[in-house]
Amino acid sequence: HTTTSAVNKGRPVVPTQEGRSLDALHSIPVHKLRAQAAATEALTVPESYPHFTPFVENKKQYDEMYKRSIEDPNGFWGDIAKEFHWEKQWDEEHISYNFDVRKGPIHVEYFKGGLTNICYNALDRHVAAGHGDRVCFLWEGNDLDQDRKMTYGEVLEEVCQLANYLRSQGVQKGDAVSIYMPMVCELPIAMLACARIGAVHSVVFGGFSAEALAGRMEDCKAKVLITASGVMRGNKKIDLKAIADSAHTMAAKSGHTVPRVVVYENERAGGRAACSFTEGRDVWYAEAIAEQAKTCEVEWVEAEHPLFLLYTSGSTGKPKGVVHCTGGYMVYAHTTTKYVFNMQPGDTYWCTADCGWITGHTYLTYGPLLVGASQVVFEGVPTYPGPDRCWRVVDKYAVKQFYTAPTAIRSLMRAGDLYVKEHLRDSLRILGSVGEPINPEAWRWYHDIVGDGRCPIVDTWWQTETGGHMITPLPNAWAQKPGSATYPFFGVVPVLVDEKGNEVKGEGEGYLCIKQAWPATLRTVYGDHERYETNYFKPFPGYYFSGDGARRDKDGYIWITGRVDDVINVSGHRIGTAEVESALVAHAKCAEAAVVGYEHPIKGQGIYAYVTLMEGVEPTEDIRRELINTVRGIIGAFAAPDVIHWAPGLPKTRSGKIMRRVLRKIAAKQEDELGDVSTLADPHVVEQLVALRGH
Ligand code: PRX
Repeated sequence: HTTTSAVNKGRPVVPTQEGRSLDALHSIPVHKLRAQAAATEALTVPESYPHFTPFVENKKQYDEMYKRSIEDPNGFWGDIAKEFHWEKQWDEEHISYNFDVRKGPIHVEYFKGGLTNICYNALDRHVAAGHGDRVCFLWEGNDLDQDRKMTYGEVLEEVCQLANYLRSQGVQKGDAVSIYMPMVCELPIAMLACARIGAVHSVVFGGFSAEALAGRMEDCKAKVLITASGVMRGNKKIDLKAIADSAHTMAAKSGHTVPRVVVYENERAGGRAACSFTEGRDVWYAEAIAEQAKTCEVEWVEAEHPLFLLYTSGSTGKPKGVVHCTGGYMVYAHTTTKYVFNMQPGDTYWCTADCGWITGHTYLTYGPLLVGASQVVFEGVPTYPGPDRCWRVVDKYAVKQFYTAPTAIRSLMRAGDLYVKEHLRDSLRILGSVGEPINPEAWRWYHDIVGDGRCPIVDTWWQTETGGHMITPLPNAWAQKPGSATYPFFGVVPVLVDEKGNEVKGEGEGYLCIKQAWPATLRTVYGDHERYETNYFKPFPGYYFSGDGARRDKDGYIWITGRVDDVINVSGHRIGTAEVESALVAHAKCAEAAVVGYEHPIKGQGIYAYVTLMEGVEPTEDIRRELINTVRGIIGAFAAPDVIHWAPGLPKTRSGKIMRRVLRKIAAKQEDELGDVSTLADPHVVEQLVALRGH
C-alpha cells in the first residue's frame, strides 16, 4: 500500500519533498479577509449571557491566568494535574521541549517522572468517588426508537472485560490495536480498554475504504482489529465487516497479518446472519468479553507513553500517524473541555463528531469523561429521519453543551428555521463549532435561531496535531465576533509570520504558527520523526507551523482563513489533494491529475479535479463515474471529487511544476484574477481549460 504523490504517468515525475519550499504555500487571501472583517466587526456580540456563570468570568481573569500559563507552565499545568490520580508524582520541573530545528531534534515532554493512566482517571476515579451510577453514555441510534444508557460503573466493567480479553490475546503495553467501528458505546469503550493496558489505539473512521484501513493497520503493525458487522447511516447500510475483511487481505498481502479480529454484532445492520466470519481469526465481541472478569488491573504508564495514533492527511505522501502521549494530552483534554464548554461534572453534553476523528477522541472519549459529564453518543446522521433530528435529541436528553461542525450548521440552516423552532432547546447553554472556518451567516443562524440568542458560540480552532483547542472564545468571558476564534487558550502562544519567517506584530496577516509547546503537542509522526520535523518545524524555524493562514484585527482577535498548503477541508474532513491525485492516477485511463479546493455552499470546500486522460482516450460520462469510484475505493466516499474537469494539458512552469494557483482560480471562475502567468511553459493551456469548464 503506497500513496505516492506522483501525479504523472509516463512523464518525468517532479519530486515533491515533504517540507516544500515556501513558494508552494498559498498566499494569504488578504482581500477575502478584509471583506470578512469589514462585514463582521460591526457585529460584535456582547459578552453577557445571563443564564450561567462561567469559570472564567471576564477578560481580566483570563489575562491573569493566561499570563501565568505562559510564564510558569510548570506550575500552571502542575496545579491542574493534581486533580488527577498519579501513581507516581511527576518532577517539579516537569516540562522540557525544543521547538527549534536549528538547536537540535524537536522534542516535547510534560510531567516528567510521573506515572498515570488516562482510563483510570476517566472512569475509576469517578466510580471511586461514588459516582458509579452517574450516566456516562446516552447512546442514540440511527432510528428514533433506538437508545441505551450506560453508567460510569457499567462502562468501567465493560472496559475491564475487553481489556482483559485483549491481554489474553497477548496485547501488551505499547502494542497497537486498530479500531474500525460505528458510533456505538463499544467504540469509546474499545479506546479506553486499550488505554487501560497501555496499548496504543489507532481508530480509523468508518467512512474510510478497505485500502485506507489496510495501510493504517500495516503501518502500526496492529495486533488486533476491533470492528463491527455493519452500520446503518440514514437509509444506507454499510457492511463494515466486508470492508474490514478486504483490508485484512490487503494488509496480509503486503506483509502484515492482523492475527485477531473482534467483531461487534450490530443487529440493527443485519447482525450475524448477514456477516462473514473467519473461524480461528474472528471472534464475536460479546463472546470475547463474556467470560472475562469485570475488574482489570491498570497498567501504570509514564506520562510520555503513547496513548494513540491518529492518521491524518498532509500536503504530500501518505497519511501521517500523529502520536499523542498520555500525561500532557490527558491534562490538556480535561482543561480545554472544562473551560471551553464551561463543563461541570454531570452536565449533559453532545458532540456530533465521530470517534474516527480527533474531535471524537478529545471531546467525546476523553475530555468529557475526565470531567465526569454525561454525554450523547450518536450513531446516525443529523438529517435523518428529518432535519430536526439534532433538536429532537437536544430536547430528549436536555443537552446543555452542543458541539458540531459548520457544514452541519449550514445544511440544517438550509432546511429552514421551522425544524428548529418546533423543539424547545431550552436546556442549551453553549454552542460549539469546529473543523473549518464558520461563515458569519452560519454563525448568526446558530446563535440567533438554534441558541435563541441565549448561548455563546465557541468557535474552536485546533487540529489533529494540537490534540485540543488552541484558539477559542471562553463562553461569556469576552465579546464575540462572528467568524473569529478570538484568543488563545491557556498555554498557547500563536504568532503570525510572514514569508521570511518574521513575526507580524499587532494588526496584520500571516502564516499561523505556535511559539511554545503546549501539553497536547503531537510528539512525533509514527515511525518517522524526520517527517515530523520537516513538516511542522522546518517551514518556519523556531515555530510549529499549523498549515493555516490567519489575521489579527485591531482588538487582537484572531481570524482563521483556512489552509495555505495543499490540504483541503471538505465538510470538516481534512483531505490531502495529493492523496486524491494519486487515487485518480491509479485509474488506467488517467494520465495525470491535479486537485484543488473550491468554495462550496454546504461543504465549505469541494473537491475539484483536473484530469488528463491517456493519449487517445475520449472523455465520457462512464470514465467520469469510474474515476470517482476509484477515489471512493482507495480513500473513501467522503473524498470523492465533486467536479471532474477534463484537461488536455495542465498549467506548468518550464521546470514542470503545476501552477495550482492558476487551477484554483479557474475552479473559482476567477480567471480574470490569474496574476502573473509569465512563467507558464504554455500559456494557451489556461484558455483551453476555461473553454472546457463547461459551466
Ligand atoms: O484548517 C483548520 C481547520 O481544520 C484543520 C484541522 O483539521 P483536522 O486535523 O482534521 O482537525 C479538525 C478538528 C479539530 C485546521 O488546520 N479548522 C479546524 N477548526 C477550525 C478550523 N478552521 C477555522 N476555524 C476553526 N474553528
